[in-house]
Formats: sequence, structure tokens, C-alpha cells
Amino acid sequence: MLTTNTTTIHLHTAFKVDVVDPRIFGGFLEHLGRAVYEGVYEPSSAHADDMGCRTDVLEALKRLNFTAMRYPGGNFVSGYHWQDAVGPRDKRPITRDLAWQSIETNQFGPNEFVTLSERMGWTPMMAVNLGTGTPEEARNWLEYCNIESGSKWANLRIEHGYEKPQNIRLWCLGNEMDGPWQIGHVPAEQYAISAQQTARMMKMCDPNIELVVCGSCAPELPTYLEWDRQVLEHCRDDVEYLSLHRYVGNADDDTPDFLAVTNSIDRQIEATDAVCRAVHHTKKTRKRVHLSFDEWNIWYRARSGEHVDGRGKFAAPLLEEVYNLEDALVAAGFLNSFIRHADSVKIANLAQIVNVIAPILTKGDDMLIQSIFYPIEMYSKRRTGTSLQLVVDGPGYQSKSHGYVNTIDASAILNGNQLSVFLVNRDLTKPMEVKIKLGDANVTQLVDAEVVSGTDPKMANTYECPALVRSHAHSEVTIEDGVATIYLPALSVYAGTLLLDR
Ligand code: AHR
Repeated sequence: MLTTNTTTIHLHTAFKVDVVDPRIFGGFLEHLGRAVYEGVYEPSSAHADDMGCRTDVLEALKRLNFTAMRYPGGNFVSGYHWQDAVGPRDKRPITRDLAWQSIETNQFGPNEFVTLSERMGWTPMMAVNLGTGTPEEARNWLEYCNIESGSKWANLRIEHGYEKPQNIRLWCLGNEMDGPWQIGHVPAEQYAISAQQTARMMKMCDPNIELVVCGSCAPELPTYLEWDRQVLEHCRDDVEYLSLHRYVGNADDDTPDFLAVTNSIDRQIEATDAVCRAVHHTKKTRKRVHLSFDEWNIWYRARSGEHVDGRGKFAAPLLEEVYNLEDALVAAGFLNSFIRHADSVKIANLAQIVNVIAPILTKGDDMLIQSIFYPIEMYSKRRTGTSLQLVVDGPGYQSKSHGYVNTIDASAILNGNQLSVFLVNRDLTKPMEVKIKLGDANVTQLVDAEVVSGTDPKMANTYECPALVRSHAHSEVTIEDGVATIYLPALSVYAGTLLLDR
């Protein structure tokens, strides 16, 4: 017979981490595989709108309510020249993308992206090319986007039919420049000098922008954290954010170990933040540099061979991961970690949004919602407020690679008298009773809650069975003496909102 374990989560409304920046619910759209073409943009689709964008995909993306949307890459950006993709479509050249060995038609470019962002309520987060591009090319793009009129690049935007400045505030200074695979990869100091020159020229052009400088993109790289230190020693006063990236996977098919990866995401954030704080302290900088976790996801199945080689084709199916239930739990773990670190992580971008390592897949005019879609939707609905510290007191286990973890991974957001709790039950077979106990307030009522769960960690949606893994309303909660007891199934992600009396 199955026994039910108990975990108690202790909170206090005065023990705040920080306001949760809505931009941690960001996304990423790269010119890669079928992300742009056949993903968001497909004029020949039965779903195409007046812009040629797929309404079915956009409607699904709206449910995720993304904030900052990073564009146009990724590795792609390190060989990208923005001028190729603006102006009359019939004059735009066809170019060869070396990062993914693909053909780029430039029929969808930055202006189309900005229009789409306005329609979707996204905050554009543009990445400039610091691989083959120059600081001046980056600064010209900024002038094109943000300056009213009266100079060459601003006038060109107007000539292209965009009368009003686009006022793009968030810019990334290149992509993964520490990665040896990156076009134009150079040692840290060389990148730092070019990033600083670019940052200064861009801020001379528009002082209202915010900049993200490339930090370490993977803990496995030999330059991990040392790269960050060197970059910040040069650029600390010129940028607002340092980037970090993380892709995780279950190549060894060890689900408990995979689910424990949240520990190492926490450590990655804390170590990177420690470098920011150390430079801030030793160099007496004017402001603290925060973190932009601008690529995160599960990516290990479609990561080599034909999955990453476009073979000179246009819109080849690349990086098309199929996500299952255990991946949904890990996606929720990433979000828990960002919420727990609301004081340092101000931006985070799910990489990516459609077809390429994405919550949504398309096939012809069909569309499939994958497992990782649901935790993002459930969390995003409840993202407003302040992250609270929490103490998780309950059973746990020793994982193979990530040390000891609590069976329940958790985060919490307080918004007035509403407390949202986010829980992952990592137990493969046992349900868990989770008690929510506040030191200074009583839980009085459940507002609403949803859960994703299943018996098989490998269960995944398919075009034939599209709803095997999805969210369901959840009301299995009792409230007694101001303490809520939530009954969580095994292998589950839960997001619920409780009313407090305080
Ligand atoms: O998101 C897919 C790729 O992963 C991006 O292009 C790159 O930045 C990272 O290595």
C-alpha cells in the first residue's frame, strides 16, 4: 500500500526576497530551423493573419503571456547583418547562416518582429552581432530603431514605413561569446573591450537603453565564472545585466537525478551573482549588475548530427525536442529557482517558443502543445508580487549528481492578501501532503489551483493523443487552523493561489 509523506513549508510575509520581475517570464525567438518560418511566420498557412503570422501559434503563445522576447539569436546573431532584413521584401538578399548551416530569406526581419511584439504585448530584447559585426553596426541599428528622425539611419526607418521610433530599451551585446562554437569567439578580454566600446557608443546614441553583456553560457566550459569576472572588470559601469544560459537533460535516463537538477541551477545563479557582487564590491561600482538568464530549457535529445545541421536548406527541422512529463517538472524547477532568486535574476527567457526546443510544435496547419507549456502557463498567471523566502521541511533524497534535495521543490509569491505557491513533487510513486504554514497569517481559502501529473515520467503528447500531459484544476486542499494542506499526486507540478487573513 502507498503511504503519503508530509512536507511542511514555513513562510512569513515579512521575509521577502524581492519583487518578482515579470521579465523572468521571457521567451526567445531565433532564426533557427522552423522557429520563425513555419513557426510564427507562414504566409501560406490557412492560419495566416494580415502579417503572414500563424494565428493558431500566436493564440497559444498568448496563453503563456511572455514579457521580454529575445531576437534574432542565439548563435544566428553572430553572423547577422540587420540591414539585410529591413526595407522592401523583394530587395532583401538571401543569405547563408553559418551557425546552423541554413539559408535565410530575410522575409521576416526586425521590423516585422517589432510589429509582432506590439501585437503580442512582448518587450523586444534585441541582440546585436558582436561575432562578425562591429560596434558601429550595432549603434546604427539602435539609431534606426529609437531615434525620432533627422539622421541617416532614423530616416531610413521612416523611409521603410515606420514613422514612429520603436523605442527598444533592452539590448544584448552579442550571444554566448565565451563558447568556442560561436562565430567570432574570442578570449574574454577581447570580447570585453568590444562589448564596452559597443555599450558606450549605443548609450551615446540613446542613454535610456539597458544592456546585457555575455557571461558564461555553460558551467561545463573551462572559462566558467573567470570569463564573467574579466568581462565585468571592463564593463561593469556600462551594462545593467550579465547573461547566463543553461540547458539540462536526462541522457543517463535517471529521473530522480534529472529532477534534482534544480539544485545546480540554484548554485549557478548564486555563483554568477557572487561574481557580480565581488566585482561590485572590489571595484566600487556605481550600481549592482543583475542577472539575465536569457536562455534556459531542457535540450539533449535533438542536440547533434542532423538536428543541428541545416545542410544548406531553408527552415529545416532543427532542435525539435519532444517533451515529456519529467521535462515539465524540470521546467517548473527552473521557474522555482528564478522566483527564489528574485533579488538577482531580473530577466529569464525560455529558449525557445515554437518548433525549436519549444512548448509548441507545428506540422502543416496542425499545432501541438507540449508538456512544458503547462507549468509556464500555470506559473505565469500567478507571477505578480513579491517572492517570499521559504523553509521546506520534509523528506528528500540523495541524488547522483546534484547532492541532497527535498522531495518537494517550491517557491512562493505574495500579492496583497493572496499567496501563490508553486510546488514540484519529485517522488515517482508517492503522493505528498504539503502543509503551507505562515508565521504571521492564516490561510483562509483556496482561490484556484492547477496541477500537471501522471504515472509515467516519459508520457508525452502526440498529434494523435494531444492531451496526455496537461493541466487540470486542483481542489484537493483542506484548511484547518490557518494551515492549508495540499494533496499532491506523485510526479506533479502544482500552482495554486491561497487567500490569507493577516
Ligand atoms: O537556443 C539554441 C542555441 O543554444 C542558441 O542559438 C545558442 O545561443 C545556444 O547555444
